[in-house]
Amino acid sequence: MYLVMLGPPGAGKGTQAALLARARHIPHISTGDMLRGAVSDGTDLGRAAAQYMERGDLVPDDVVIGITRDRLKASDTRRGFLLDGFPRTVSQAESLDAILAETDRALHLVLNLDVAEGELIRRLTGRRVCPKCGETYHLVFSPPRALGTCDCCGQDLVQREDDKESTVRQRLQVYQRQSKPLVEHYLQSGLLATVDGVGTVEQIHNRVLDAIT
Ligand code: AP5
Repeated sequence: MYLVMLGPPGAGKGTQAALLARARHIPHISTGDMLRGAVSDGTDLGRAAAQYMERGDLVPDDVVIGITRDRLKASDTRRGFLLDGFPRTVSQAESLDAILAETDRALHLVLNLDVAEGELIRRLTGRRVCPKCGETYHLVFSPPRALGTCDCCGQDLVQREDDKESTVRQRLQVYQRQSKPLVEHYLQSGLLATVDGVGTVEQIHNRVLDAIT
């Protein structure tokens, strides 16, 4: 299946995409993770993207479309993929259709996680991540066993630069302005399935599974 997961910052896209990709044996492709990887590797791409990400703005379309196009050429995406964080603008959505058409593919479904703004702010400002293995925690909703330490690899957890409250508010405004129109775009194309993103991680995973069957 060729799937996209949409939703505002903090809606749980990364959490749910990881579970769904594992359940369906398809690659989980997160443009946010790819960009953060480039920033921490200090590549030209990372240097170009960092200034936008730190402000909570979108990285320019041509940059993100380029890395996604390259990723979707890989053979592991032939029998399915789950895109998380891409597309984020209508122009990216149109490019995605064109990239897929080049290899006779087309999207099957776009999952849209629906969560109210107050909950998004709580989730983002409480998020902590492992800089070594990428595991994600929340100080209240899914804390690590030992405070500040990754359960999986023992590394000290950190807060993402863009999870500071002022940057979170900017990201939410950018979502409303530039990414929310995608919901209407995919509704019109008949591909949209909106899923209530409030509840336990397992409850939402079950709703996502129901939506794709
Ligand atoms: P990206 O990494 O994609 O960030 P985002 O869309 O803002 O999404 P998040 O990762 O913040 O949240 P999420 O929805 O994945 O939630 P999560 O599962 O982690 O992008 C970062 C930046 O990169 C962008 O701002 C932009 O600059 C750039 N970028 C990326 N893609 C781009 C593109 N296509 N075009 C241009 N620029 C691009 O969960 C959040 C927290 O909530 C966690 O702590 C988690 O434990 C907790 N949580 C999860 N589920 C629940 C639950 N059910 N109940 C309670 N807590 C929960």
